Amino acid sequence: MIRDGAPDDLADIDRLYPDAFPDEELRPLVRSLLCDTPGVLSLVAAVGARLVGHVAFTRCRVTGGGDAVALLAPLAVASTCQKRGIGSALVRAGLDRQRSAGVGQVFVLGDPAYYGRFGFEPEQWIAPPFPLPEEWHDAWRSVTFDVAAPTRRGVLDVPEAWNDPALWSEG
Ligand SMILES: CC(C)(COP(=O)(O)OP(=O)(O)OC[C@H]1O[C@@H](n2cnc3c(N)ncnc32)[C@H](O)[C@@H]1OP(=O)(O)O)[C@@H](O)C(=O)NCCC(=O)NCCS
Repeated sequence: MIRDGAPDDLADIDRLYPDAFPDEELRPLVRSLLCDTPGVLSLVAAVGARLVGHVAFTRCRVTGGGDAVALLAPLAVASTCQKRGIGSALVRAGLDRQRSAGVGQVFVLGDPAYYGRFGFEPEQWIAPPFPLPEEWHDAWRSVTFDVAAPTRRGVLDVPEAWNDPALWSEG
């Protein structure tokens, strides 16, 4: 079942991230997104009472433009539950919610092979908030819902939680 994250889920989400990302510490980012950042869509996947997946979408702006766009990240599925469609269900549910909410474009920095299946294409016109390592350029992608609108150009203007160069580099 995919549902909106609730304050009661925080402890389970805190346990999920080190399990899904053993080599990365994403809990400060996730807490900052869930507790201190307005305009974050937080969805959880639950199997019975067990929380097995989580995704966040953060509302952002493009410099110089006023319309709503969003950043998909992070996405995590419990190590014992991966490759069963849970991550895909979270991404698809989140994209549907963003589109219904009037978001015109969603960005992601992630594996092209994985995100390509949801329609994410290489992003050329909107730069990420910090320069990416050369080998990550193909991982900066977006999916556009308002395809008839003029192409957005500029830099993704992210809220404070994302305003950390370390989140956009290999360091
Ligand atoms: C990446 C992740 C979110 C995918 O969720 P999931 O529930 O395992 O994935 P799904 O079951 O929806 O999709 C499975 C498909 O994606 C592929 N896939 C899974 N992880 C992938 C990855 N990192 N890169 C490319 N393909 C991947 C699987 O091979 C499978 O392909 P198939 O449908 O052709 O068999 C999950 O594996 C995870 O949390 N991994 C650890 C953390 C991580 O790397 N997160 C990256 C998000 S930025």
